[in-house]
Amino acid sequence: MPHTNRQWKLAARPTSLITPDVLQLSESPIPAIADGQALARVKYLSIDPTMRVWMADTPQYMPPVQLGEVMRCLGLAEVVESRHPTFKKGDKLSGFTGMQDFLLLSADDKYPPQKLPSIPFLSDINFLNLLGGAGLTAYFGLLDVGKPQSGETLVVSAAAGAVGSIVGQLGKIHGCRVVGIAGSDEKCKWIKDDLGFDAAVNYKHADWKEKLAAAILRACQRRKPELVIPARARILFAIASLCPTLGDWIVRKKSG
Ligand SMILES: NC(=O)c1ccc[n+]([C@@H]2O[C@H](COP(=O)([O-])OP(=O)(O)OC[C@H]3O[C@@H](n4cnc5c(N)ncnc54)[C@H](OP(=O)(O)O)[C@@H]3O)[C@@H](O)[C@H]2O)c1
Repeated sequence: MPHTNRQWKLAARPTSLITPDVLQLSESPIPAIADGQALARVKYLSIDPTMRVWMADTPQYMPPVQLGEVMRCLGLAEVVESRHPTFKKGDKLSGFTGMQDFLLLSADDKYPPQKLPSIPFLSDINFLNLLGGAGLTAYFGLLDVGKPQSGETLVVSAAAGAVGSIVGQLGKIHGCRVVGIAGSDEKCKWIKDDLGFDAAVNYKHADWKEKLAAAILRACQRRKPELVIPARARILFAIASLCPTLGDWIVRKKSG
């Protein structure tokens, strides 16, 4: 076992894209546990767009990370030592591990991690993607907010991202014709060939608006005329219905 705990701490608040001075690596001794505490070794980190939001000192859905604090981050960890009432040695955990090697857990933690269930043939890493925040966001965002109906056309932005790639596949399962928007030809090929999207548009091509309009029109023309009534012909914008894209957020903050 290593002797030090490496931690990435927030050293400066980004004003636009994240630059190397925003996070600073520091090393400190691995903390000793007291009664009611446990020590967990962090195995995986999930680097998510929302971390950019946590770095900003603005009102948001969680307290912003303060300068000098370990950067908040979702991850997977395993308990290596415990005097904690809930977690025992060997437990695998998912939650806010922070960007660090070791996480000290206390009985009164405000955001305690959850124990991972042991499911045969399922890798723990799935709890950071399909069965984690990305999968839950895609599932409830599309099905509870978007409420897609079979035969509708679903347009997914950031379609090759963690959430968008799941939204598109859920849309197919629910009988939608799915059009994805992504930022490279390679991503477009992946969502079409491997994930089964019906069409993909690269927004970095000059004629992307025409291509998107054509892809949507193709979808509507395929439908039987009697089905093309306003409620059934509506187009669902999946991720846009949930949250602004990362790029939008950065641009909005830049312009004040
Ligand atoms: N993951 C979660 O658990 C979760 C939960 C709740 C909400 N969300 C929200 O859902 C949206 C998508 O999240 P995600 O986890 O799918 O993200 P992701 O896997 O990191 O994908 C984000 C995509 O956004 C596009 N993008 C546009 N402008 C960008 C920029 N300036 N920097 C980086 N990427 C940029 C990129 O795709 P292109 O190259 O195709 O443009 C990138 O692949 C975000 O708004 C996020 O806050 C995510």
